[in-house]
Amino acid sequence: MNVKELVSKMTLKEKASLLSGNDFWHTEAIDRLGIKGFMMCDGPNGLRKQLGEADHLGVEESISTVCYPSANALAASFDVEMAEKLGENLADECLRENVSMLLGPGINMKRSPVCGRNFEYYSEDPYLAGKLASAYVRGVQSKGILACPKHFAANNQEYRRMSGNSIVDERTLHEIYLAAFEMMVKEAKPKSIMCSYNKVNGTFMSENKHMLTEVLKDKWGFDGFVVTDWGAGKDPVKGVEAGLDLVMPGPREDHEKAIVAAVEAGKLDEEKVDKAVTNILEAFFWGVENSPKDVKPSDDSTRKHDYEFARELAEGSAVLLKNNRVLPIRKDKKVLFVGEFAKNPRYQGSGSSHINSAFVSNACDCVKDKDITFVQGYETGDTKHNYLLREQAVEAAENADIIVIFAGLPGSFESEGFDRADINLPAEQDKLIDELSHLGKKTVVVLHNGAPVSMPWIDNVDAVLDMFLGGDAVGEATVRLLWGEVNPSGKLPETYPLKLSDNPSFLNFPGDSGNPVYAEGIFIGYRYYEKRRMPVLFPFGHGLSYTEFEYMDLKVSRDSITDNDTVDVSIDVWNVGRYPGKEIIQLYVSDDESKVSRPLKELKGFKKIFLNPGEKKTVTFTLDKRSFAYYNETIHDFHVESGDFSIMVGASSDDIRHTAAIHVESSVEIPLDVDLFTPVADVLDTKKGFEILSPLLQSALEGQGEGADDAMGEGASKMMKNMILEMPVGSLSNFGLMTADKVNELIEALRA
Ligand code: BGC
Repeated sequence: MNVKELVSKMTLKEKASLLSGNDFWHTEAIDRLGIKGFMMCDGPNGLRKQLGEADHLGVEESISTVCYPSANALAASFDVEMAEKLGENLADECLRENVSMLLGPGINMKRSPVCGRNFEYYSEDPYLAGKLASAYVRGVQSKGILACPKHFAANNQEYRRMSGNSIVDERTLHEIYLAAFEMMVKEAKPKSIMCSYNKVNGTFMSENKHMLTEVLKDKWGFDGFVVTDWGAGKDPVKGVEAGLDLVMPGPREDHEKAIVAAVEAGKLDEEKVDKAVTNILEAFFWGVENSPKDVKPSDDSTRKHDYEFARELAEGSAVLLKNNRVLPIRKDKKVLFVGEFAKNPRYQGSGSSHINSAFVSNACDCVKDKDITFVQGYETGDTKHNYLLREQAVEAAENADIIVIFAGLPGSFESEGFDRADINLPAEQDKLIDELSHLGKKTVVVLHNGAPVSMPWIDNVDAVLDMFLGGDAVGEATVRLLWGEVNPSGKLPETYPLKLSDNPSFLNFPGDSGNPVYAEGIFIGYRYYEKRRMPVLFPFGHGLSYTEFEYMDLKVSRDSITDNDTVDVSIDVWNVGRYPGKEIIQLYVSDDESKVSRPLKELKGFKKIFLNPGEKKTVTFTLDKRSFAYYNETIHDFHVESGDFSIMVGASSDDIRHTAAIHVESSVEIPLDVDLFTPVADVLDTKKGFEILSPLLQSALEGQGEGADDAMGEGASKMMKNMILEMPVGSLSNFGLMTADKVNELIEALRA
């Protein structure tokens, strides 16, 4: 389709009409030119297609379909292949339902564990989120369905999400909050992206030219179209000027009129309108050209296939947090299931991602040939203490060998639209677990949660299996995992802190009037807990298996590289246990010595592999410049500081098995804008500065040698040397180390 030609045939009014929706879920059509409107639907963990009344909060009905595990669960699988398959599966469903664009995935960073929408997001780590998002988008778009990753950007809380102003410094923004978006844009080329409601550094995202045009489109090369979150459009003209393409939902006659009026009054360049229209149409026609034509409607076999896939995902995502040799459960054991969630699991979150599930499996119905009793234990609606239900559970426990307690967060605790007040489970559940874990029986806790919870009873229970919000097949997957028909293989995509106040954003979340200052900077999640060497409940990347893995023979292909090179890192992993199982091998990098503050570990690679007992495989990672870089605000780009780095490979951020060293030499020198106030040490750090200044200062620096210690006491020479290094160059003349003329000459030479 020649979009340029098509646009040239449009009137200004027609063009303006295409820049806002026709209704809640469709774009505008222009019949005279054969342009059809297309439909978009939420995502991200199932298709929420509404045929009747429309809303963006998951309140009104949508078609009945399959609900897959939510994003926090998918992230725990660390499985890029499964993420890509999920994208493909969702695209198939879109094709069957005549939906052209899927509103997902959500890839905001988990700055605080209490963000109400954390279940819809992947991780506190941008590398993990970026890799999974890229795979998901590739999967969706492989069938000609447009993906629409969201919510761009720094939209990390629900409180005042529509009006808040996220105040984030440039390095933090690029290194943490934009990095997953950047990776996904570059690796998977999404045809669309959704801008968030909030302001970033004072400007609403739908009007933020720096973010939409300078960063997203110009710097990263995004060539799709930007759509607003539902209702996030502000001033229509400022939006187009900033690089916003489509405002949803519609109809928005006011929007159309404002654009026509601005162009006619010479206040808005028509070329910018043309560009926005072109971006939307090119993406749409790309979809038409790349999607298969003969698609059969959903039937029993597609439903069955999707349900089975949802089960595989749930099984691959579950994280075994603790296991004192109680799991897997032996078939001859008498087991008591306690907890409402064993009958009615919480399997998805509330809000715009809410799916109308055709069928949800529960653990009680899936135990079949096993010796099980069930008691309710607590109520999910009323979270007040229910003494009777607890008593009943304690009584029933008498006959059991093992008590499995199904606990978790009820929907009223976490959702789109509000943040959690704390990270506690309902007090009633904590009390129940505490009582049952003191009966001298083996106790297992199965969790259903969209975000971390505290576990005051952790030392008393024998095992904890985290199922997250596991989708339609969560019940069946739980039973298969508990009895060892499948081996748990997920790992935590976020730290579980001991208490909420340990979280680095605690003092600035949700910010005064919902205007959070991201004062903790780049230190979110494990980057913070590691740096402060703080104890946590469970670290990032943690997850157990029924088998055991040994790591051997870490090899790095070169011991010294430049930042233009790549380096291969390999390690042998061996299943030394009794069960077949999957392991997630994690690679972290750290800068041994750095002028800027850097985390002790940053995830730069991960691989999930399957191994039979006794089997060994070699896993290889390739590292490049970005693996060693930080974001430098002087050059507005990622930069590697020359020096030694450690490469750590292990089973979690807190379980590093082997470490190797590498030297990386930078090919970029950060320009230094020298003036009278630049510290001497900074000048000496530059190549030119060192050449000019070090001979001039040599005698002064040497002159502060041992003689000074003898004359003025121990430490004097160090003090004097340090004083010179840290003084502004202009002050060299004040201390008689150089004449004022010489200092000026020097600055001129350095600036030349
Ligand atoms: C949510 C989006 C969603 C949209 C449409 C908004 O409230 O923030 O994630 O895609 O509604 O339902």
